[in-house]
Amino acid sequence: MSTAVPRAPGGAAHAPDRFDDAPFMRACRGQSVPHVPVWFMRQAGRSLPEYRAARGPGSILDAIHQPELVAELTCQPVDRYGTDAAIFFSDIVVPAAAVGFGVDVAPGTGPVVSEPFRSAADLERLRPLEPETDTPYVVEAVRLLAATLDVPLIGFAGGPFTVASYLVEGGPSKNFTKVKSLMLSEPALWQALVERLTDMALASLRSQLDAGASAIQVFDSWAGILTPRHYEELVLPATRRLFADLEASHPGTPTILFGVGTGELLPLMATAGTSVVGIDWRVPLDEARRRVGPGTAVQGNLDPAMCLGSWDVAAAETREVLGLAGTAPGHVFNLGHGVLPETDPGILEEVAALVHAEGRAGVEPVP
Ligand code: CP3
Repeated sequence: MSTAVPRAPGGAAHAPDRFDDAPFMRACRGQSVPHVPVWFMRQAGRSLPEYRAARGPGSILDAIHQPELVAELTCQPVDRYGTDAAIFFSDIVVPAAAVGFGVDVAPGTGPVVSEPFRSAADLERLRPLEPETDTPYVVEAVRLLAATLDVPLIGFAGGPFTVASYLVEGGPSKNFTKVKSLMLSEPALWQALVERLTDMALASLRSQLDAGASAIQVFDSWAGILTPRHYEELVLPATRRLFADLEASHPGTPTILFGVGTGELLPLMATAGTSVVGIDWRVPLDEARRRVGPGTAVQGNLDPAMCLGSWDVAAAETREVLGLAGTAPGHVFNLGHGVLPETDPGILEEVAALVHAEGRAGVEPVP
């Protein structure tokens, strides 16, 4: 057997990850697994009493400047639920905030921008991200976590449409009218904005991988607001470049592309060059597998609201997802979107145990 380290076209060495054989990593690659892996988007956060106790007051942007605190908040849900992966505790607006665009995260609201992106002059407020100097606290926290975690760490960045939507709308939006209007009426400016945000996401993701993250997820959470044609023409090219450039520098790294309300976009998302497409709860997982096609794994997709009531409901709905996922390899169990703050953590603990016990996708039959 050859012991040569595989090299990417760009010449980068593929350093074997110590979690290469972990169930989460294997499922992302469509390989067989000892059990179906599970993690929950937004698994760290207000549903956990230990989070509320440790988090302290102020903006989440203050909290994430403290590497020890970030490491603790990242580990809390892994310890409690026994998830197969940790998600780095941070936020999608961190790179834009770090280069001084003027973004904060208001508790209960989300990202708010003091001077929204309006014209070409605003591009100057989005200079390239230099992770070692702009976000040294991210690099340090990832290093701390890589040294202590027993499961793979998922690094992440916001997708180009979703981050642009916050910068252009100035905050959370229902109809996304300002960003849609900019995309269609000023295509050259949109192109420049998306390329800049893609470069920032790429720099951030690379720094997280270099510091010890094992996989990454791109949260293009609100891309589902777009028509397939607009997504394909105005967002997908930059998304493809993001995954292609990552593959060149960090070959073989499992990648996940996720958005909400993306039922009609799934076949396009599957062409982005990602290993896994995240599915929200609206599309049954067997249908999602058909839309994504062979060669791409799926992640999802229990409706987070199903975890708010009785265990009987959560258990039945978890079994439904596991059944629709089938027996073919390539399923990472997750919710269809983030954990809702009012969720009883005891329910999520039982969901994780049920997935481990009964999930069959890619699980070798016991001889
Ligand atoms: O376990 C995890 O997933 C934790 C890491 C994480 C956070 N934000 C922490 C956070 C991740 C992966 C994110 C990504 C993020 N941030 C997304 C994509 C995920 C998604 O939900 O689709 C988006 C759209 C944002 C923007 C954002 N940041 C919103 C809408 C909010 C909620 C505002 C609120 O208070 O309800 C935030 C703040 C935020 N980010 C919190 C957490 C735990 C809220 C609690 C706090 O301030 O401590």
